[in-house]
Amino acid sequence: MSEQGYDKFGIPNWENRTLFHCDNLDVLRNMNSNSVHLIATDPPFKKGRDFHATPDSLAAGAGFKDRWRWDEDAHPEWRDSIFDDWPESWEVIEMARSSYGDDMGAYLCWLGVRLMEMRRVLRDDGSICLHIDHTAHAYVKCLMDSIFGHKNFRNEIVWCYRTGGASKTHFGRKHDIILFYTKSNQLTFNIQKERSYLTGQLKHSPSEKLQEDEFGVYQVVLFSKTHIKLYVDEHGRYYTMVNCRDYWTDIDAVGRTSRERFGYPTQKPLALYGRIIEALSNPNDIVLDPFCGCATTPVAAEKLGRQWVGIDIWDKAHEAVLTRLYQEQMEVEGESEKPYLMARGDVHYETQPPERTDDNEIAAPRLDLKITRPLAPWQKLSRKEMATLLEVAQKNGDGVICGGCGRTLEREFMQLDHITPKSDRGENHILNRILLCGPCNQRKRNNLTLSGLIRENRKVGWMKDETLAEFAQQDAHKKALEVRDGYL
Ligand SMILES: C[S@@+](CC[C@H](N)C(=O)[O-])C[C@H]1O[C@@H](n2cnc3c(N)ncnc32)[C@H](O)[C@@H]1O
Repeated sequence: MSEQGYDKFGIPNWENRTLFHCDNLDVLRNMNSNSVHLIATDPPFKKGRDFHATPDSLAAGAGFKDRWRWDEDAHPEWRDSIFDDWPESWEVIEMARSSYGDDMGAYLCWLGVRLMEMRRVLRDDGSICLHIDHTAHAYVKCLMDSIFGHKNFRNEIVWCYRTGGASKTHFGRKHDIILFYTKSNQLTFNIQKERSYLTGQLKHSPSEKLQEDEFGVYQVVLFSKTHIKLYVDEHGRYYTMVNCRDYWTDIDAVGRTSRERFGYPTQKPLALYGRIIEALSNPNDIVLDPFCGCATTPVAAEKLGRQWVGIDIWDKAHEAVLTRLYQEQMEVEGESEKPYLMARGDVHYETQPPERTDDNEIAAPRLDLKITRPLAPWQKLSRKEMATLLEVAQKNGDGVICGGCGRTLEREFMQLDHITPKSDRGENHILNRILLCGPCNQRKRNNLTLSGLIRENRKVGWMKDETLAEFAQQDAHKKALEVRDGYL
């Protein structure tokens, strides 16, 4: 991929048209930061059941799990890193656990760690669209606010469809929601048009001149005191074209007899993802779908001349994208003069995450939100008071254990540091503090989180005793909680 235009953004460390068959967390963690223009994705919705493909379809045998348990699916490593580095997201998870149940907390934990990586991978001028339904939507909205910032929330797109059954106990559930966020206040937004059917009185003279544009044949007529372009559909109904609103009723779900039906459970229509991609990216931009299923996003991106990368744990996703690109008669520009139909070799299939080629230990830059809230008494402890308390917590014989490398050294060699750096919005209070030895403190500086430092220590061979380092972290945390609770 050319490096042109990537000077202030990250350089992708994968090729255009790559399909990764892996857990997306492993791939996302190994994708370079700030390198994707648009993420358009459709994760499991937390339906509490498993999904299976239609047996006689091209996707036969496919399926995925959509049930969640706190003890099995919210890995301790994820919980710790959210607790340490994303305290607002942790609060959302706790709120979901108490108001809905542990299963919702587990789902949010699982999705949250992935969304945090998606935010890092997204370019500063990029956008993300996350497809969800009523089950977890309210909680996922809060989670996304805590990760992307409520100021970067752009739309809740309501996609209405007619398929599915009816209920005797509630109104028919006939819409999904697409949460659209940006990473900053810069974005690509190409206005899309949709039909708006007319109901009022029309001053319409059939003799008016017929003209044609990209939406079809029209006449200019006077409607509600303004001149509008009037089109007529195949049933003789009049409409005009307006800027797309945030509820979409003109795109049908993939039905049983639909031409694009692949048989994959939860397959989404190409037109839906096409509209998102067209609106939020430009030709040749990079589109990522980390839950790509039977490749709706990659196929829509290819049709619109975007670069794409897809990830799915389904082992046949690669076959699906090839089959669908072939069905769509997609052509590629080859070295020969004439474009040719896409073939197996044109799509890269990877079963291992890529190698990071940027500085992968730098804490993902956090939101620039200023939280002004009064400090509680326990948050006002001086540096000296915090250091004295942690010295007792991290004590080992005559020395103190470093929370970064597990070395036991005399107190004078220890320095008070932040677990989440200040640059990453880490706060000054004791719950975010730890005693580290001089070299760890130097290495960590203001741009690594404690977990980043530990990874770095392993890499450079400075890790002395990881079990002791963990004990020191746990004891420091316990002490901080005691201090806080003592004041409450
Ligand atoms: C709702 S489906 C996506 C359907 C897709 N939009 C389409 O039109 O075919 C969710 C997908 O997420 C995939 N998935 C679930 N967990 C995953 C994980 N940890 N890593 C990668 N893919 C995952 C499932 O295999 C499934 O294909």
